[in-house]
Amino acid sequence: MSRKKIVAGNWKMNTSLKEAMLLTQQILENSASTSLIEKIIFPPFTFLTEVIKTINNTPNFFVGAQNCSQYLNGAFTGEVSALMLQSINCNYVLIGHSERRNYFNETNEQFILKIKNALHNNLKVIFCFGEQLAERKQNLHYETIKLQLSEVLSHFTEIDLLNITLAYEPVWAIGTGETASPNQAQEMHAFVRKVIANLFSQKIADAIYILYGGSCNPQNAKQLFVCPDVDGGLIGGASLKANDFIAIVNSF
Ligand code: PGA
Repeated sequence: MSRKKIVAGNWKMNTSLKEAMLLTQQILENSASTSLIEKIIFPPFTFLTEVIKTINNTPNFFVGAQNCSQYLNGAFTGEVSALMLQSINCNYVLIGHSERRNYFNETNEQFILKIKNALHNNLKVIFCFGEQLAERKQNLHYETIKLQLSEVLSHFTEIDLLNITLAYEPVWAIGTGETASPNQAQEMHAFVRKVIANLFSQKIADAIYILYGGSCNPQNAKQLFVCPDVDGGLIGGASLKANDFIAIVNSF
């Protein structure tokens, strides 16, 4: 089964407006050779409108938000709703990132509501999950991942799953310079497909995109992307340099 390739850049809480525009421009200008690979950038909320205008419907180029509210609308000071994101033509939203889990104590219940709101507003979702170092050391990583996936995804239908991309991001590899080996990534991605096959069907398991995230860079992307169950990457630090991001996109 051949799946398209995806490289997503999560800028996190970085860049000024000027830097965000420059980065967008540089990525756009240099990605002509990568036309068959889907690129998604996740700038901070404040720059989404400008970035979306600059991308201007370039084929295979999409823009996402790093989060959305679990609430639909109303008196929730400081929140950004899925409807707001849809209204500025945002394409994607990241849900379940380990920084949201660990620093903001977000829970599965919140992820379920957020994903529902996102899908209801025609946003595609990248749902992130991954084990902590202690869980891997105790050999609990498969069990952890199975729970993280099943407790959230069991609330969705096969049709919903067509608009959800998965991102396996072992917490010990995020921003640490330590990467999962291609073997570790492939084993986990193959396991994730099994979990999806059990929860839904083999057809969905074969079709769903599973990205790897965690210190992915131009040096290690090739070995990771060659793994049969790795459909691309969710890139943090290295997505802040246009050249590195493009080099990663060119690693397939
Ligand atoms: P990193 O971040 O590439 O800086 O490790 C990945 C992520 O958090 O998505």
